[in-house]
Amino acid sequence: MTPDDRQVQVLFEAAKAVQANAYAPYSHFHVGAAIRTRSGAVFTGANMENAAYPQGVCAEGGALSAMVTAGEREIAEVLVIGPEGDHLTTPCGGCRQKIREFAQLDTPIHVAGPEGVRRSFTMAELLPESFGPAHLGV
Ligand code: THU
Repeated sequence: MTPDDRQVQVLFEAAKAVQANAYAPYSHFHVGAAIRTRSGAVFTGANMENAAYPQGVCAEGGALSAMVTAGEREIAEVLVIGPEGDHLTTPCGGCRQKIREFAQLDTPIHVAGPEGVRRSFTMAELLPESFGPAHLGV
């Protein structure tokens, strides 16, 4: 295992651990997310649904909130894990834009199932020609 592989493995285990805490009584679709920042810290989130459906929060949203709350702003790598089955649980459109706020175009986003990483993408692959902070001078 290369050092890079080991870093992905850390994200995989962190995301898988919190996936077990997902609150998804409506979809039964449990998702976990882990973000490693440039400082080396890892932040996690699990999806949190709500009886008023639009009020739910994706796993990525939870991990991003934890990251920002800790004062971190620079994403180095992301991993999202979905449940059993053939799906590639890629971040939804809204989450792609939220990740984009704190990522670079070449930031890796790994998509995993219970057995491990299934595919890896860059931020630019998941959100081509994206609108980002630079458009507003940030
Ligand atoms: N979900 C996530 O948390 N992240 C994704 O990347 C895809 C979808 C959640 C939202 C909702 O709670 C459930 O999965 C079904 O859409």
